[in-house]
Amino acid sequence: MARHLITSAIPYINGIKHLGNLVGSQLPADLYARYLRGRGNEVMFICATDEHGTPAELAAKKAGQPVAVFCAEMHEVQADIARRFGLSFDHFGRSSSERNHVLTQHFAGKLEENGHIREVEEKQVYSIDDGRFLPDRYIEGTCPNCGYDKARGDQCENCTKQLDPTDLINPRSAISGSTNLEVRATKHLYLKQRAMRDRIEAWIDSKKDWPILTTSIAKKWLNDGDGLQDRGITRDLDWGIPVKKGDQPWPGMEGKVFYVWFDAPIEYIAATAEGTDAKGQPDSAWRRWWRLDEGAEDVTYTQFMGKDNVPFHTLSFPATIIGSNEPWKLVDYIKSFNYLTYDGGQFSTSQGRGVFMDQALSILPADYWRWWLLSHAPESGDSEFTWDNFQQSVNKDLADVLGNFVSRITKFCRSKFGEVVPEGGTYGPEEEKLIADLGTRLRAYEGYMSHTEIRKAAAELRAIWVLGNEYLQTAAPWSTFKTDPEKAAAQVRLGLNLIRFYAVLSAPFIPFAADAMLAGMQSDNRDWPEDVAASLALLAPGHAFTTPEVLFAKISDEQREEWQERFKGIRD
Ligand code: 2FM
Ligand code: ZN
Repeated sequence: MARHLITSAIPYINGIKHLGNLVGSQLPADLYARYLRGRGNEVMFICATDEHGTPAELAAKKAGQPVAVFCAEMHEVQADIARRFGLSFDHFGRSSSERNHVLTQHFAGKLEENGHIREVEEKQVYSIDDGRFLPDRYIEGTCPNCGYDKARGDQCENCTKQLDPTDLINPRSAISGSTNLEVRATKHLYLKQRAMRDRIEAWIDSKKDWPILTTSIAKKWLNDGDGLQDRGITRDLDWGIPVKKGDQPWPGMEGKVFYVWFDAPIEYIAATAEGTDAKGQPDSAWRRWWRLDEGAEDVTYTQFMGKDNVPFHTLSFPATIIGSNEPWKLVDYIKSFNYLTYDGGQFSTSQGRGVFMDQALSILPADYWRWWLLSHAPESGDSEFTWDNFQQSVNKDLADVLGNFVSRITKFCRSKFGEVVPEGGTYGPEEEKLIADLGTRLRAYEGYMSHTEIRKAAAELRAIWVLGNEYLQTAAPWSTFKTDPEKAAAQVRLGLNLIRFYAVLSAPFIPFAADAMLAGMQSDNRDWPEDVAASLALLAPGHAFTTPEVLFAKISDEQREEWQERFKGIRD
């Protein structure tokens, strides 16, 4: 049994995520985790909330709550929505956990011991009106790289360039909007990434199979201007992980915390430990996923993220791991995504534009969204969500193709044979051809799924559903029944078995519908169809089933128009 570690970029705690966030990391990671589990692998699928830094502080301020209280509440809200979307994390952790404090301080201590940290007296923007320093997102302005006017002090979300607050043109405080700013001296720790440049580049170059989007972004920042820059890893903030060398104080750094982007990826490791702690397991249970000297040699580690996260995962986090000189597991494959746009514009958390996860679930079940998002995943370029396209996909793929197949075969069987798999008859050339065609497409589907080629996998799955419909259309058991009921029985038996077969294959995309299909077929056999013919004989004659309720309802034009109107504005 192979072992797969899968992490999704950890969402900021600052609010409920929109569909663009979902399709950029958590949802495709879930698809992959479910697929690999379905194939019998041992999977550890980790996500968490990213609770430090300016996004958390600013959102707590807006909500009028102490930041720790805000984070605890919002973690539960995000965990609940994730569950309702079917995100099958093995653990959904919190970057503010004790585990992450200890590990982050541990890594910083090791980096210092190995000479990878330097102290820098740097100039930081200080807001006279706010009476404080304005690191990262506490400051906004125009990006010096692309001219985007809402760039934040840590990064431009338009062009992905990592920034320093002092780089911004026309800066303003994100707390008060004040432009009454001055530059003051303050001491910070810097990670000497520059000196590790060649090691990082060699590591990236060794990853021949990475998606172009991932390597091109990594290479861009590796060679940008005069190359990879050293990065500040501490901040003048109250909320965060206190700067320490392991468990020892760090003289001169009192009152400062680690930068959120330093501790966030370490939370992948910490969350694994939080998960095994919650199960009362010993440390060896998480270390076997992360320590090469304790079992992680045979782990394959895949990360999922939006393109703006790529620099941190290809450069900064590997620099932390490599610089520790300890045998921690480095990522094997980074699957990154472009952006999902919303009806001609951007999805935006800060501006409340688009459809958010809670809103989506308030109008339709998770599988409708999962199917559309995954089958339109922004892999090779940005994709656009439009209500029109959403309606068409749901109605055609889910209702007309899959839902219709399930409904026709079960209803026909119930009317002629009762709610049991009929006996009699044998498979002829049409059935053999169907089984062969399913086999060819299934192997292609497996190939796409194991290489996380999501859109292609979705198209292949749909084609597999279509094969069933086409078979039903040509075999036409309702006509056969009139002249040759035995043959009709064999056709229906195959059709009923196809429902179970489809449930197993489709579960990574539409887990709730898959459960309903299996429940209808009164089967809990989720074995992957390594052998298609054998898999289509699992429901034997005499096996009882119940005709499922409508699996997918069509979206009407009225609904589409109403939702388009409802979600065109800005959320508070
Ligand atoms: O972009 C984001 O939403 C970040 N919170 C992602 C962090 S991923 C990681 F490093 F943990
Ligand atoms: Zn920019």
